[in-house]
Amino acid sequence: MINVALPKGRLGEKIYDIFEKAGYECPSIKEPNRKLVFENAEKGVRYFWVKPSDVSIYVERGAADIGVCGKDILAEYAPEVYELLDLKKGVCKMAVASKKDFYDDRETTLKVATKFVRVAKAFYASKGREIDVIKLNGSIEIAPILGLSDVIVDIVETGATLKENDLEVVETIFPISARLIANKSAFKFKTEEIETLTQKVKALLD
Ligand code: PRP
Repeated sequence: MINVALPKGRLGEKIYDIFEKAGYECPSIKEPNRKLVFENAEKGVRYFWVKPSDVSIYVERGAADIGVCGKDILAEYAPEVYELLDLKKGVCKMAVASKKDFYDDRETTLKVATKFVRVAKAFYASKGREIDVIKLNGSIEIAPILGLSDVIVDIVETGATLKENDLEVVETIFPISARLIANKSAFKFKTEEIETLTQKVKALLD
């Protein structure tokens, strides 16, 4: 049995469809209810719907053998997991954005609002730039508008949120997409099952 943590929401549903096509179907997952665990014993697969930012925790601690999470989460939390495959879904980018008229005075400490503290610190450390990180939990775009920060480090997908708030991308930090990850000991003990699944999913992406 392979235990799979899927991110609850639209991306997770898309990913499930790929797994289904790859031969790991579990029809009960599509029933309209609020269950979180679904199993198809015959196919040897059990799915869990978990909060997207929690997938790597379930996988790292072995509560799930494999899972699907964004590169943003892997970069921010650096979980001890194997990254098996780029699923090429949920494509977006991590970027720095600011108000259109923002002038970057390098003599002052830059105030950076973000959910991604580690990513922001690493990015500015690599530039030798001193920053003051302001950790927020959502609606990051409002920070520069209210003067809470100079810039934000956040996910940009369509760019609509930035545009509608008169902000713009200053710099892209890295591209993001969903990744198939595996628990390290599960990979050791279920190598064949996990590798077979990975290959079947990969074949569908190609
Ligand atoms: C994410 C991200 C941006 C937005 C980008 O927020 O933090 O705010 O999506 O998407 P766009 O470029 O297509 O507009 P999310 O919806 O996850 O909510 P949040 O404000 O709680 O982070």
